[in-house]
Amino acid sequence: MTKTGQNMILGTGHTVPDKILTNADLEKIVDTSDQWIVERSGIRLRHIAEKGAALSELATEAARRAIDDAGLKVEDIDLIVLATVTGDMKFPATACFVQENLGARNAAAFDISAACSGFIYALQIADGLLRSQPYRHALVIGGEILTSMVDWQDRNTCVLFGDGAGAVVLGPARDGRGILSTHIGSDGAYSHLLYNAGCGCINMPTVENVQEKIHTLRMEGKEVFRHAVVAMSRAMKKALKEADVSSEDLDLVISHQANLRIIEALAKRLKVTEKQTYVNVDRFGNTSAASIPIALDEARKNGIIKEGSLVGLVAFGAGFTWAASILRL
Ligand SMILES: CC(C)(COP(=O)(O)OP(=O)(O)OC[C@H]1O[C@@H](n2cnc3c(N)ncnc32)[C@H](O)[C@@H]1OP(=O)(O)O)[C@@H](O)C(=O)NCCC(=O)NCCS
Repeated sequence: MTKTGQNMILGTGHTVPDKILTNADLEKIVDTSDQWIVERSGIRLRHIAEKGAALSELATEAARRAIDDAGLKVEDIDLIVLATVTGDMKFPATACFVQENLGARNAAAFDISAACSGFIYALQIADGLLRSQPYRHALVIGGEILTSMVDWQDRNTCVLFGDGAGAVVLGPARDGRGILSTHIGSDGAYSHLLYNAGCGCINMPTVENVQEKIHTLRMEGKEVFRHAVVAMSRAMKKALKEADVSSEDLDLVISHQANLRIIEALAKRLKVTEKQTYVNVDRFGNTSAASIPIALDEARKNGIIKEGSLVGLVAFGAGFTWAASILRL
């Protein structure tokens, strides 16, 4: 028997900052080249926020578009879950700023932190709360201004990231549609391979720490690459099994957009074709928690997927964390 979900995606939306940073622009900042960046990552350009811009502004715009797309009013939203590692402030939660911007008076709002896997974690949390609480509609947002924590002198990392936000509205499922399965996992043994050690309680913003750029992102790219492919393929296989479908059945796989080579290696492991694989990393770079909802919205709006399509979402990020979900749109 085909599984059915209790909650389905009613609407999607996304937004990115207007400002574009091309590989040619980066050539002027660090010792790199368009050829190196394209060959190693597939990235050609990324959208970046102005210095000091608020993530809540991007997240609010993405949320408004998703609510409109769902044909709902802001008062209909009972829950706002925002996945990010680059919120406006340490606290309160950026989701509360989004709530205020929207005027979503009836919603409970909070942030979650699972780095690039954050959106699928948030989807899982929202789906669970919709099932267990008297809520009907949840806004699930993934958003980052990751360029706010990039070391612009580190060519190993600064060429990879971009900013943006994507959102979905979840609500009661009908006609056999909905979230069929979700698998999330993590392994803290690898936290040293991708992290930002500043901005927490260990490393205070002392003059020395700021001079040592302790508040910037650090990554062992090669190691992250290797683990990402293995963990995402394992997570996706678990989600497929749980949903009782195979990779051949999927109309589209939307994997976290970090690197074209990771996306291709994952597709090979999952035995999915190029046609089944969504790619926009060339135009956005790695937008962390925003990458999947941005891609999902694009794929819906340009008709690649539509009502009834079977879609696999899969992500990997710092922690390490990983997550996968199978949805019938
Ligand atoms: C970062 C990444 C693109 C690097 O690709 P790679 O093939 O692993 O490249 P390497 O790390 O082996 O670096 C190769 C060489 O290029 C150099 N290099 C690194 N960045 C460069 C850049 N922007 N321009 C030019 N050369 C660069 C390195 O210094 C190294 O030089 P060396 O051999 O003289 O030491 C790749 O490892 C990656 O995408 N990793 C995963 C990142 C990711 O997805 N993170 C988020 C996960 S959620």
